[in-house]
Order: sequence, then C-alpha cells, then structure tokens
Amino acid sequence: SAADYVRIVEVGPRDGLQNEKRSIPVATKIELIERLARTGLRTIEAGSFVSPKWTPQMANSSEILEHILRHPPISPHPISYQWLLPNVKGLDNFLNIWQAHVSSKQDQQDAYPTPPPSPGTEEGSTLDTSSQNPNAMPSTPPPSPSPFPPKTELSIFTAATETFTQKNTNCSIAESLARFEPIMSRAKELSLPVRAYISVALGCPYEGPDVDPHKVAELAVNLLEMGADEISVADTTGMGTALKTADLLKTLAAAGVEKSDLALHFHDTYGQALVNSVVALEFGIRTFDAAVGGLGGCPYSPGATGNVATEDLVHCFHSLGAKTGVDMEMLAGIGEWISGELGRANESRAGKATLAR
Ligand code: HMG
Ligand code: MG
Repeated sequence: SAADYVRIVEVGPRDGLQNEKRSIPVATKIELIERLARTGLRTIEAGSFVSPKWTPQMANSSEILEHILRHPPISPHPISYQWLLPNVKGLDNFLNIWQAHVSSKQDQQDAYPTPPPSPGTEEGSTLDTSSQNPNAMPSTPPPSPSPFPPKTELSIFTAATETFTQKNTNCSIAESLARFEPIMSRAKELSLPVRAYISVALGCPYEGPDVDPHKVAELAVNLLEMGADEISVADTTGMGTALKTADLLKTLAAAGVEKSDLALHFHDTYGQALVNSVVALEFGIRTFDAAVGGLGGCPYSPGATGNVATEDLVHCFHSLGAKTGVDMEMLAGIGEWISGELGRANESRAGKATLAR
C-alpha cells in the first residue's frame, strides 16, 4: 500500500562521486558519508574496489572502508554499507581490510567486552544539527547519538548489452558472470549479502534505447540463481520512460523475479527518473537507489547527468504517503553542501526548494 516503507539506497558517495575529474579529499568523502548516516538512511554505497586505472576517483575507497570500520558513523539505526567490486582482485583488496578489522574486533571483544558508548562523548557527536527543522516529518526519529556497528554488503555489476559490458568491465556478459562465481561463494562463506546491478536495462549509449527486457530478465534470473540477494536494475543512460519501465517490470515478473528481490536505479538524464520511480512504486517495488544532490554524470559526455536526487525521490515518495524514514531537511542541507564542495550546481529541485522555504 501507499503507506509502505520504501528503502532508499544512497549511492552518492560511490556513483555520485566516481565521475568527478577533480580529486576529492578523502575527508570530504567521509564527511559526506557521516552526514548521510544521520539522516535516517539505512543503506549507503560508500565506495568501490575497481581498478584505479579505470576509475581513479574511487582509489581511496580502502581508506574510507577502514575509517568506517574503525569509527562507525553515528546514525539513528544500524546502517549497511555497500562496496562495489568487479572481480576477485577487488574482493581481495576489500577483504584485506574488512577481515583484519573483523578479526581484531573479535579479539578485542573476547578480551574486553565493549561498554556501551556514553552519549555526547563519542566522535562526531559535536556535528552541527542546527539544520534540523522543527517542521520535519513527525515520523522521523531524532538521530540517536549511538554509533551502531556497520553492516557490510557487496555489490557486483554486469550489463544488459555486450558493448556496454566491454566498455565498463573489459569482458563479455558471460565472462562477467563467470567472474562473479568466486565472489559469490566467498561472500556466502562470510555471510555477506550481495547485490547485483544490471546496467543499461532501459537504454544503452552504444546499442541504443531499445534494450531487450527479456535479456534483463534472463540476467536477473541467472544472478539470483547464482546467489544474489538483490538485483538493482539500472537505467544508466536515463533513456527509460514510464511505458518502458512498466514493460520491463512486467517482463521481470513474468520471468519469476519477485518484486522484493528488485531495486531500481534511475539516472535522470532525460528528467524521467521520478515518473519512472512512481511507476515502479505502483508496481510494488520498495527499494530505490538515489544520490544526494543528484550527483554524478560524466563531464565529457554532453547532457549526461547523475542519479535521481535523493531529495527529489524522498519528497515525491512522502507526498504519496510512503515512509522513507529519511529527514528531508537534513538531506537538503547535505545536497547543497556537497554540491558546493564539488563546485557543481545542486541538481535537486526539491532540495533547493526546501532550503528556500
Ligand atoms: P582490465 O584492465 O581488463 O583488468 O580491467 P586486468 O585484470 O587486466 O588488470 C589491469 C590492471 O588493473 C592490473 O594492474 C590489475 O592488477 C588492476 P597492473 O598489473 O596493470 O598494475 N586491477 C585492479 N586494481 C584494483 N582493484 C581491482 C582491480 N582489477 C584489476 N578490482 C576491470 C577490468 C574490471 C578491473 C576494469 O574494467 C574496472 O575496474 N572496471 C570498473 C569500471 C567502473 O568503475 N565503472 C563504474 C562502476 S559501474 C556503474 O557505475 C554502474 C552502476 O552505477 C549501475 C548503472 O547506473 O548502470 C553500478
Ligand atoms: Mg549508476
């Protein structure tokens, strides 16, 4: 029903920042994640373990992972941090840090049970919360000062067209699936949930707008059979429309893919992301990816833009009676702040309007 809870997966720190040409200080990336953690979001994609030759901006993701594990951001609920990886090399780089932390934490806990944090003394508790608005949705709980231990998820990615898969990961679709086998089995051993992205599901920059929805469905079924916990269907190019979105969702359902196994990942290049999101919401999808401030897009690809702005999606879903648990005022402030840090225009209409009230 419309009163349902919708989970927003904030991908700004990864998808939103990965295309920025200017190097972004790791402290700014961490501050972005820490601010987002306070808004009520439950899932944040925080970085990627891809080749630094391919995506230089993500090269310091290991520092970010290390920081999050050592100093869990303060949040009102436990947060899952997602880390994108293309191959076993990325998994190994991730696990080098993650496993060292998990085992040292284990030793520590065995020797000295951790006392609960005392409010107001932990790191980050001095963060300015003056942007909290008294008119914020009453259902939004005030951010608790307690850090929760971070939860971890892995994200893998393939695409619905051969050309895009080659351009993005230098392999065929079949090869990309083969690369996932060892990642998936390792993740299962470690009880780490895995989400799998299917890029260019509603249009490809190389093969055109008419991507076969049956190809997307076939891939989704394959990935779920391999053990993926969630499929994020991505409109990489923003070529999706309301009708194409509805058609794709029907095709996925006809292939046996459960709504609860799907997330939708819209880029807003043609301004259709909100319309498509409402179509998907009405269809019964309850997980959506978004980037605060509408971050993202490639400066060398004319007209390309970022993900749907989290502020716009949250505003839209709240207007329909859905609950996101996300504080709109805080989010709007973050979108404005990070846009300023990057020297970009704030791409969120609802964010700017909220701040101008
Ligand atoms: P390749 O060049 O074929 O890989 O790239 P390779 O195995 O031949 O290795 C080449 C070099 O990279 C070697 O180093 C490797 O060690 C290194 P060298 O020996 O030359 O010094 N390398 C790595 N280093 C760090 N981490 C790794 C890694 N792997 C290899 N994981 C590869 C193949 C898949 C690595 C490359 O194509 C790649 O990294 N692609 C990722 C590109 C990317 O980041 N794209 C954006 C993310 S996906 C996305 O945004 C879409 C999404 O938002 C959904 C949507 O909107 O569509 C998720
Ligand atoms: Mg994307």
